[in-house]
Amino acid sequence: MTTINDNYLKLKAGYLFPEIARRVKAYTDENPDAPIIKLGIGDVTEPLPAACREAMVAAVEDMGQRQTFHGYGPEQGYLWLREKIAQHDFQARGCQVSAEEIFVSDGAKCDSGNILDIFGRDNTIAVTDPVYPVYVDTNVMAGNTGAMDDGKYQGLVYLPITAENSFTAEIPEEKVDLIYLCFPNNPTGATASRAELQAWVDYARAHGSIILFDAAYEAFITDAELPHSIYELDGARNCAIEFRSFSKTAGFTGTRCAFTVVPKTLTAKAADGSDVELWKLWNRRQSTKFNGVSYIVQRAAEAVYSEAGQQQVKGLIAFYLENAKIIRQQLTAAGIQVYGGINAPYVWAQAPAGLSSWDFFDKLLYHCNVVGTPGSGFGAAGEGYFRISAFNSRENVETAMQRIAEQFKV
Ligand code: MLT
Repeated sequence: MTTINDNYLKLKAGYLFPEIARRVKAYTDENPDAPIIKLGIGDVTEPLPAACREAMVAAVEDMGQRQTFHGYGPEQGYLWLREKIAQHDFQARGCQVSAEEIFVSDGAKCDSGNILDIFGRDNTIAVTDPVYPVYVDTNVMAGNTGAMDDGKYQGLVYLPITAENSFTAEIPEEKVDLIYLCFPNNPTGATASRAELQAWVDYARAHGSIILFDAAYEAFITDAELPHSIYELDGARNCAIEFRSFSKTAGFTGTRCAFTVVPKTLTAKAADGSDVELWKLWNRRQSTKFNGVSYIVQRAAEAVYSEAGQQQVKGLIAFYLENAKIIRQQLTAAGIQVYGGINAPYVWAQAPAGLSSWDFFDKLLYHCNVVGTPGSGFGAAGEGYFRISAFNSRENVETAMQRIAEQFKV
């Protein structure tokens, strides 16, 4: 008899965003004319930068000529793109990251899940609570957890992040082997200072742990003091893998391009006690299970680093950050306490007294026709909070905020 991977049965019924989509559909089936505004899933709305589109068009033409046609590319990505990434995103900020240590992929979500392929099943894993659900669910699928008990999976170490600790997780007292950190944070929009990140790196070095650092929202950092990469901290090359993405930076959610940095100096233990380079394992994994990102898309990503591309990307980020500012201002005026949204495209709001996250979700959906994301969907400690995404048109953000202000006016 064929069997399944039983770990899937431990997963909560639905991934958060499909569950939200299900509820919205149920409402719109009943109310087909409701002018719904979606500020739930963090999906970009503004067009791809012109520099990227032009590069894609030129790349399509390349594909039309035998001399410039491209078949399979390197599984790790074309060197011309990896070199630009290494120079611009890392070396220019004083990080010693080489092109060879960059692995171009089709998404930070995919990579942050796939990375578990190269780690053992006996690691202790720490996640923040609330957390981007992918880190948790992929560990459940891989069999790294027990069953869910009281909103938490057995075997995971949850590090609460709440207003009381300024959304900065305490460094655990016990030893953990793998630690997921995401800054600027999804879902809270919080950031980590240099000193805070250095403390994590020092902890990881002292315990032989590996930090899985998700920097997908790095481009939204406006505060000059904040680190953009974990490799800006001393010792991180020996304890951290970093995930980056063009999705939120350059509007690539539908275009698909991202990259992961695995330093050649990073090792973990084999069963026989020897140290093994993680770079070699990830390279082996990618060469076996992945065929690279399309030439056309990599040319589009390369264009992000051109002068025009840089200008256009800055414009996009500034646009979404202005949306976040409007959200913060309007919610504050409506008497709702807000966090984040300054160096991040997410505003983390406290649901009005007495309302759970899902109560607030329903209230906004039914009375304001605005969709957000219930904080409890990101973890038990997210209960009572609500995430509002700044990814939408200015008009939609303004209209949504007017409706909320009207509904909750104090
Ligand atoms: C989110 O809304 O949290 C994002 O869409 C997550 C993602 O980029 O996968």
